[in-house]
Amino acid sequence: MRSHFLTLMLAAAISSGALVGASHSADEPAPAEKAEDAAASAASGAGKKSPIDVVNGAEKGTLKNPFDWKDPEIVKEGHKIYMGLSCNGCHGGGGGGGMCPPLTNETWVYGGDDDTLFRLIVLGSKDLQAAGYARKGQEGVVGPMPPYKDIVDDSDRIWKAVAWIRSVWGGRKEKITW
Ligand code: HEC
Repeated sequence: MRSHFLTLMLAAAISSGALVGASHSADEPAPAEKAEDAAASAASGAGKKSPIDVVNGAEKGTLKNPFDWKDPEIVKEGHKIYMGLSCNGCHGGGGGGGMCPPLTNETWVYGGDDDTLFRLIVLGSKDLQAAGYARKGQEGVVGPMPPYKDIVDDSDRIWKAVAWIRSVWGGRKEKITW
């Protein structure tokens, strides 16, 4: 009985040793999975991710706002963020422009899709152009948009501000690409 027990212990020790060995190789795919998760959340911009990581972690044209701009709570929060980041100092409290281009009209300087707006806000005009995004639209006022990459550490805040911008946009429905 006793020797049987020892045999079991030995078997358990061996198999746990084997498990340690196995868990090593099982560890290897884990970081890959994590990287996949990170890529997925970078693509959607979901979660507390630094905006610059989101920008650098996703291919051009692939970023999508994870928030619903038709949700009044998100829009309300987005406007608070917009005001809190002093975007209104240049674009006006309602987004109608002033010193800087309006966010409410049909003209988009680089394009109006989520990807372009997110990158423009994070990188600013200069780095956005360096990343291969060209000016296509001409607004009445031309100037550089400052980068927010060192000011905002949570990409969700930028996405919510973008959701608010969608809510005040006054263009024709058929022009909506987001
Ligand atoms: C110092 C002034 C300034 C501030 C502050 C500023 N912007 Fe801008 N923004 C600009 C200028 C100038 C442009 C046009 C950029 C260009 O032509 O390259 C612009 C462009 C944009 C555009 C694209 C508009 C279009 O018609 O294509 C969006 C969207 C935008 N800004 C959002 C924001 C948000 C959100 C914030 C706050 C987080 C912000 N801006 C803060 C000056 C500013």
